Amino acid sequence: MLLHFILSLYTFPFTMALGTLQGSNTSAIAKPNCPTHCGNVTVPYPFGIGKDTGCSLDDSFYVTCNTSDGTPKLFLGSTDEIQIYSISDTEFRMHNGFANRCYNRNGTISEDYDWSIELSAFTFSVKNKFTVLGCDDYSFIRGRNGEEFSSACMGVCSKAQDVSDNGQCPGVGCCQTSIPKGLNYYNITLNSFQNHTDVWSFNRCGFAFLGEEGTFVFQGTNDLSLEGGVWERIDATVPIVVDWVIAREHTRNCSESSACKENSSCYEVESGGYRCRCNNGFEGNPYLDPGCQDINECDDPGTHPCYGDCKNTPGSYNCTCPSGSFGDAKIENGCQHPNNSKFSSTILIIALVFGLLAILSSILGIFYGIRRRKLMKLREKFFEQNGGLLLKEKIKSQGSQEAMTLFSLAQLRKASNNYSQQNIIGRGAFGVVYKGVLSDKRVVAIKKSIIMDGSQAEQFINEVLILTQVIHRNVVKLLGCCLEEEIPVLVYEFISNNTLGHHIHSKVGGMSWLSWESRLRVAIETAGALAYLHSETLMPIIHRDVKSTNILLDDNYTVKISDFGASRLIPLDREQVTTLVQGTLGYLDPEYFNTNKLTEKSDVYSFGVVLAELITGKKVISADRSNDEKSLATYFVNSVTENRLHGIIEPRILDEATPEQIQGVADLVKRCLNLQGCDRPTMKEVVLELGNLRKSTTHPWIQQQTCEETRSLDLEVGQSDLYDVSLVSYGGSKSSNTFIHVV
Ligand SMILES: *[C@@H]1O[C@H](CO)[C@@H](O)[C@H](O)[C@H]1NC(C)=O
Ligand SMILES: *[C@@H]1O[C@H](CO)[C@@H](O)[C@H](O)[C@H]1NC(C)=O
Ligand SMILES: *[C@@H]1O[C@H](CO)[C@@H](O)[C@H](O)[C@H]1NC(C)=O
Ligand SMILES: *[C@@H]1O[C@H](CO)[C@@H](O)[C@H](O)[C@H]1NC(C)=O
Ligand SMILES: *[C@@H]1O[C@H](CO)[C@@H](O)[C@H](O)[C@H]1NC(C)=O
Ligand SMILES: *[C@@H]1O[C@H](CO)[C@@H](O)[C@H](O)[C@H]1NC(C)=O
Ligand SMILES: *[C@@H]1O[C@H](CO)[C@@H](O)[C@H](O)[C@H]1NC(C)=O
Ligand SMILES: *[C@@H]1O[C@H](CO)[C@@H](O)[C@H](O)[C@H]1NC(C)=O
Ligand SMILES: *[C@@H]1O[C@H](CO)[C@@H](O)[C@H](O)[C@H]1NC(C)=O
Repeated sequence: MLLHFILSLYTFPFTMALGTLQGSNTSAIAKPNCPTHCGNVTVPYPFGIGKDTGCSLDDSFYVTCNTSDGTPKLFLGSTDEIQIYSISDTEFRMHNGFANRCYNRNGTISEDYDWSIELSAFTFSVKNKFTVLGCDDYSFIRGRNGEEFSSACMGVCSKAQDVSDNGQCPGVGCCQTSIPKGLNYYNITLNSFQNHTDVWSFNRCGFAFLGEEGTFVFQGTNDLSLEGGVWERIDATVPIVVDWVIAREHTRNCSESSACKENSSCYEVESGGYRCRCNNGFEGNPYLDPGCQDINECDDPGTHPCYGDCKNTPGSYNCTCPSGSFGDAKIENGCQHPNNSKFSSTILIIALVFGLLAILSSILGIFYGIRRRKLMKLREKFFEQNGGLLLKEKIKSQGSQEAMTLFSLAQLRKASNNYSQQNIIGRGAFGVVYKGVLSDKRVVAIKKSIIMDGSQAEQFINEVLILTQVIHRNVVKLLGCCLEEEIPVLVYEFISNNTLGHHIHSKVGGMSWLSWESRLRVAIETAGALAYLHSETLMPIIHRDVKSTNILLDDNYTVKISDFGASRLIPLDREQVTTLVQGTLGYLDPEYFNTNKLTEKSDVYSFGVVLAELITGKKVISADRSNDEKSLATYFVNSVTENRLHGIIEPRILDEATPEQIQGVADLVKRCLNLQGCDRPTMKEVVLELGNLRKSTTHPWIQQQTCEETRSLDLEVGQSDLYDVSLVSYGGSKSSNTFIHVV
């Protein structure tokens, strides 16, 4: 705590635009005889300085001004734990704190701070983002908003060169995620995979904090080194935003007659409690007598221009042309004096108007012509840069028997309502997925990524071409792409019925259709699709991010595997492929993580985790389980080994399946989760085994495979990925989920 305390001595440089609370000098900021400022922080009622002085609305709004070290500082309550930088109509900004953990060269911990904070009456704003800095770190943020919330974020990289300093926080060295609304408590803990022994030369500490979105700009390796000053920068420039509200506990609400003063109105806040706000054209403090005051707009020609006679009215103003003239006085030269010769002036005006129109339209014509040509050039440039010509050629040479569509920018804009917020169906660390309707009424999912390395255009094109030829009833079909944007956009068929993860976790015991029979079918369909990708496509494809939220379901609950953003083809000549660790914590093959060897068996491992999730209904990562059983994989294997399997199987399955079937699936999961890839079954074997389990209750078919058969590739972890969009929540997820991104 000492470190945090020392850091809090840095001053806070940014100024806040304050709202109507302290807008006017005629209405009060604070109650009579109460101080209005602490240093240069304005303290508007309902906040008030001093306990039991009557200055604040109640004890939750009472603040202290501590002047003992020369510069006055404002604190919430009586302790100097929560320093307030500024207060506005709906929120205040407070001093930040963070968790960090630093390591010695030999992997022992040299410094370790967790962080937690609780607000009794207010909640942390969703304007805050949870950020983790580090190359070998994952961090949990846990909190309460009525129900328990937990989320996690993970920063991974193996070389300093992989970390970019373009200010974005893509998961490489820096990971960022959002928090749900209504949190009034949270704590942050940090963990490491290798105790920083592999990255110690350039990154000795992991570091995690919550702070206002946009105020923290990631500066690459500078922010990962001890000397970079990132702690000081965050302390000085990244505040936490807190939403304040009156009487969260519903003890008071808008129905109270005196809730808001004159010329203001009361509104209730979703998470409980209420606030007041001045009516339009009024300003002041709506909580204090005499209420909000009329704004004299005529005194402020900057925001309320008037070129005629200005007259203030309550809540508005009247701006008219001087008598004897007519027109619109709110625009310059808007008032005209009527001419003596009415006829000639009319002709003059008509002529003038036509002349002006002619000139205007030709100027506009030229302007738009240039603009359109520029835009066209840009589109062509992107098209070429993204390998469009190459793709066209390939389509031609392959005879184009497959429906690979090259969509135009305009088509997709139209389909997605110009990428409107309402059309967003999924959002990940690397991009956004929109729902769109093409002009032929086909519903599609449009995937827009944030990052792509232009030099890999050819590889991208090759992959797109092969993925369009993946035709399997349980794989989401790629319909085409658009290359006219800086980063190519992919268009998939739209799958309507949310993800398997959603169906498993959205109710206690899962959705009602998830019987043992259905679960087995889902498992078989998923395994079948993976087996197809591994061995029946033109070139073997490793999915690399198999997880329950990447398994979509259509209206008939038929499985559709999605998100091939991470998939890589294995070239038939098995040459080196450079790639990046990609996957989702909890599903990630530990062998892949340690060796960077990418094999089909990595998918088998992830599938094993999905299968475990399917029959236990448990979360893949849960902070509620004991330390070494946080991950479902470990938890499951331990339970099988220690013969307490029945305790963790979904009760409904215990009823519906035979003991032999349960044991069979559990054994299969255990083999899929083998730490050694070569000891895991192939996807084909998994399909057969699941099929046998479905048919009978007799002993499952077992066949061990020799390690030599396993295909493997040495992969170097590094370079930026081609096309990464990971769906965090395809179709929305509840607050208590846990997701982690590995890039
Ligand atoms: C408050 O005062 C301090 C020093 O007195 C100054 O550095 C800071 O910029 C001021 N902040 C605002 C918001 O005016
Ligand atoms: C309000 O402020 C303006 C200038 O800022 C001043 O001219 C005016 O007298 C003030 N009115 C009152 C009531 O203090
Ligand atoms: C004011 O701050 C100083 C340290 O800066 C602390 O020692 C003192 O207890 C604080 N006073 C109050 C009333 O909180
Ligand atoms: C690890 O390094 C630290 C500091 O360099 C040292 O104090 C500690 O004894 C070392 N621990 C081991 C187990 O070598
Ligand atoms: C962190 O917060 C969670 C959720 O409120 C709580 O269950 C847990 O005990 C807290 N952990 C610590 C170390 O305080
Ligand atoms: C990391 O450090 C912790 C505590 O010092 C220790 O228990 C753990 O075994 C270490 N792990 C590795 C991979 O060195
Ligand atoms: C508002 O407060 C009144 C009593 O002051 C209470 O009867 C009423 O139920 C409250 N309304 C809500 C929506 O909480
Ligand atoms: C509130 O506004 C009304 C007109 O809308 C006005 O008559 C009244 O005087 C105002 N009250 C105060 C306190 O300004
Ligand atoms: C504005 O002033 C004009 C002329 O004085 C009057 O006719 C009109 O009703 C006024 N409008 C408003 C909204 O007060």
